[in-house]
Amino acid sequence: MVNRVDYKILIIKSSGWIFLLLVMMAVFAQAGDKIVIAHRAASGYLMEHNLPSVALAVAMGSDYIEQDLVMTQDDQVIVLHGPTLDRVTNVAELFPGRERKDGKFYAIDFTLAEVKQLHLKEPYPNSGRFPDNNKNLQLIVPTFQEELELIRGLEKTLHKSIGIYPEIKQPWFHRKEGKDISMTVVKILREYGYKSQEDKIFLQCFDPEELRRIHDELFPVLQMNLKLIQLIDDNNGNETKSLQWGEWINYNYDWITSKSGLRTLSSYIAGIGMDKSMLVDNAGNLLLPDLVSDAHSLGMVVHPYTFRREKESVPPYVGTFDELLEFFYFKVGVDGVFTDYCGDAVVFLQNRASGSAAEPAVEGEGRQLLPAQPTVAPKVPLSPVMPQAVPVDGPGVTPVTAPEAAAVTVPEPPASTLSPEPAQVPSPSPVSVSGPEMVPIPAPVPVSEPVIPSTLLPSEVKSAK
Ligand code: G3P
Ligand code: CA
Repeated sequence: MVNRVDYKILIIKSSGWIFLLLVMMAVFAQAGDKIVIAHRAASGYLMEHNLPSVALAVAMGSDYIEQDLVMTQDDQVIVLHGPTLDRVTNVAELFPGRERKDGKFYAIDFTLAEVKQLHLKEPYPNSGRFPDNNKNLQLIVPTFQEELELIRGLEKTLHKSIGIYPEIKQPWFHRKEGKDISMTVVKILREYGYKSQEDKIFLQCFDPEELRRIHDELFPVLQMNLKLIQLIDDNNGNETKSLQWGEWINYNYDWITSKSGLRTLSSYIAGIGMDKSMLVDNAGNLLLPDLVSDAHSLGMVVHPYTFRREKESVPPYVGTFDELLEFFYFKVGVDGVFTDYCGDAVVFLQNRASGSAAEPAVEGEGRQLLPAQPTVAPKVPLSPVMPQAVPVDGPGVTPVTAPEAAAVTVPEPPASTLSPEPAQVPSPSPVSVSGPEMVPIPAPVPVSEPVIPSTLLPSEVKSAK
């Protein structure tokens, strides 16, 4: 029998091991919780947004596969980075004269049958990415349903749950064109069995009013409740606009990263996403030092974008892509990253979790980018519904111009970040005034009063001392 003195000695002797065990558990738990989001599928290896690229991203062990979504003239949802087709297809060659006044070819002006005639091209040619001289390859633009069909099928054959991360692109633009993209997308998701917070999906959008509408109006009607991600753009970006007195005005995101703004979001949002340059400047300084911890305190995840391994895309404050990942995952403390190089990021996290030294980030040399797939039962039960239906902007290339991609510049930390005052959530767009080329806009969704808990965030406690 162990007496009281022996018991104390036992505890003292074991405490070192217990401490070590706790530290190891903390390290593994930390690394294990981090996720890799395949940005536009395995876009760094096999062009963006096509079915083989999705399969590759899955095979590489990505946790989530991203789909950017826009609509065609005949109301089909396709997976395309932005509303225009020029950047990634041969549309100009095949359909001369179908461009708008701004010289761009909009997917919304083409039927799905026409879009299906187009061939994808590498948007960053001569960058070391997939060769662009693949005239016989004929990768094509997928529909959202085709991509979901592929992912659901792979879940079955690989015995694993594969996350999806769809983005509803520019609801304001679709609304202007007479289409309700959010309702269409949410209905498709429901059809494919995505219904609850437990399903492996994050539904993302740059438009705060639209996310509020999805949560408050669409989800209740369709009896759904998915995890939502609020993307935060630069105020000069074109991702979100609202009609004010007949003019489309850029959305002002200033309120959103303040403590009270985050509190407001946390009542219906699962996490936030932003360009990584919004979090860290070119010298490696944190621009919003409390943002990640505040978001975590409120139960929200943080998923910045876009992580690329090309030399031009690795910021000067780190030497390699692996160091960049190390910096964001474990110093800034983000929960996941959107990356064109999902395979590299998966290997990085695996190496770190197993304690093996990170290999030098030499592009393509000796790196095992296709991890073994599990052959055991799925960790997460599959959804019961399996329907039968149906730069930088880039790595050293010409920057993509609006409206397709919004370059996010490094903002000054908003003064409001340090302010304990409740956020003033901007009012929804005033009564719509139809201008030229415009269709009537549905009545704006009222933004309810922010829910402000009485407790202070840890960083507020810190600054209050
Ligand atoms: O959705 C996160 C990130 O992808 C936003 O940038 O322009 O690549 O869709 P974009
Ligand atoms: Ca996106």
